[in-house]
Amino acid sequence: MTLQLSKVYQVETTHLKWWHNAVIYEVYPRSFQDSDGDGIGDLAGIIQRLDYLADLGVNLIWICPIYTSPMTDYGYDVADYCDIHPMFGDLATFDRLLAAAHARGLKVVLDLVPNHTSIEHSWFQGSRSARDNPKRDWYIWRDAAPDGGPPNNWESIFGGSAWTWDAPTGQYYFHTFLVDQPELNWRNPELVNAMKDVIRFWLDRGIDGFRVDAIVCLMKDAAFRDNPPAGADSFWANWGLTLEPRYTMHQPDTFDQIIDLARIFHEEYEDRVYIGETGAPIFEMLIPYYGKPLGGFDIPFNFSMLYTTWDAANIRALVEGYYAVIPAGGWPNFVFGNHDDHRLATRYGMENHRSVAMLLLTLWGIPTMYYGDELGMADVFVPVEKRRDPWGINKPESNFGRDPERTPMQWDSSPNAGFTAGEPWLPLADNYQTVNVAVQSADPQSTLTFYKRLLHLRRASPTLLHGSLAFVDGVPDEVLTYVREAAAERLLILINFGSQVREVDLRSITATAELLLSSHFAEHSGPHVRLQPHESVLLRIAADAQE
Ligand code: NOJ
Ligand code: MG
Repeated sequence: MTLQLSKVYQVETTHLKWWHNAVIYEVYPRSFQDSDGDGIGDLAGIIQRLDYLADLGVNLIWICPIYTSPMTDYGYDVADYCDIHPMFGDLATFDRLLAAAHARGLKVVLDLVPNHTSIEHSWFQGSRSARDNPKRDWYIWRDAAPDGGPPNNWESIFGGSAWTWDAPTGQYYFHTFLVDQPELNWRNPELVNAMKDVIRFWLDRGIDGFRVDAIVCLMKDAAFRDNPPAGADSFWANWGLTLEPRYTMHQPDTFDQIIDLARIFHEEYEDRVYIGETGAPIFEMLIPYYGKPLGGFDIPFNFSMLYTTWDAANIRALVEGYYAVIPAGGWPNFVFGNHDDHRLATRYGMENHRSVAMLLLTLWGIPTMYYGDELGMADVFVPVEKRRDPWGINKPESNFGRDPERTPMQWDSSPNAGFTAGEPWLPLADNYQTVNVAVQSADPQSTLTFYKRLLHLRRASPTLLHGSLAFVDGVPDEVLTYVREAAAERLLILINFGSQVREVDLRSITATAELLLSSHFAEHSGPHVRLQPHESVLLRIAADAQE
């Protein structure tokens, strides 16, 4: 078997910042740890678990919205950007969390939701109260169409028209999400300044950055043109859209706003990270989110892995397609799971979830993990009467409900998995007595142990963090193979996507192979590797080998 290195993706390492070495861990605060028995996670709960996170080996925690909110969209409907919902704690508790995280070397990033507020925000209360209210123009108001219907055909992701009639002032307001999430008008400079002050409020408090929500929706077509129909198999169906959002998402003037806000992160403050929720159907559409060519988001989230199947050729094509478009000096990232998408163990299959970790944590690019992935948590079936997510409730026939991936973190085998002393807001997984942190910490071959080993290998390895990457051709089908290389070190990753044993003879590229980690904790020695079904391995190979 003759193996060959394919195209080498070189990594630009001259201007590295701390966040280039980040492993992002998303905490969905309602479900992480409850401290007061109300069945809902809170800030004091997160503080109790910081030692766990530091020990796990992640270094940046992103916490979904914790602000004052009626919780119609579980915090993505903000009623006050500068205060904490009492259910989560208060500003003093937040300051304690931040100090405790920093003391453990963990960075803290919050969610910024600039696209919309809650209907309960005082800005919207003013805006809807009268046409001449000073806040009227902070939201998007339009007259009815001549027949009294909505101003155009724009649709809400969460179901129905994106326009809601507001009788007291006789106009429609716009919302991409829920009726309770009116959209802000980013053409109004006072609104822009107010949002800049929100950013400064939190950066002054010491947070390490923001993940900016729904940024692709920020600007809408100034002429309010109708959106064209989307094909049934178009990307937009992933988001429940029947129209192509040609005039409502990814608008060119959105990029100007992103760059304008970037100046706060990059010029007014030091060492803060600016992350964007930049879902896009093709990689080319991500480029402008980096700026022109840079100067925009440090980390425009790459969600391509959320919409693909677990197939070696597919994954390789996605990674290469992505690397090919990243602008010079830009840095890749990979999101394999989050609070909006089904659990990776469910999407890719339980037999593959450790290989997903191997891929995520050995590719060139910043990894984002979702809480519980490190245990192999899968989607939890939530019966109709216990469903909480409005997206799933509004579209009951669909698979859009997000409750299955938002169930409580499984800490131990005690009642309610150590998550709460009360009644958990979403049901726990049936398997929590065996799949939990306590059980897996004691098991040297558990998924948690595997993640921990991998995370610690990654953080100590300049090769995994900054080395070049090249895929290897000539390997058996279904075995994704790539080399990471830096200075005098070459690491090789083999991932068996298939359900058969696969033999890989590496002698044409290396005389030696030292096993660093196997997903199955199997033994391997030497350059002839016999992979078990669904096994993945990380090897150190000879640096001076011929190709
Ligand atoms: C994206 C968030 O991730 C999602 O949870 C939320 O429902 C929408 N934006 C609206 O804010
Ligand atoms: Mg609580």
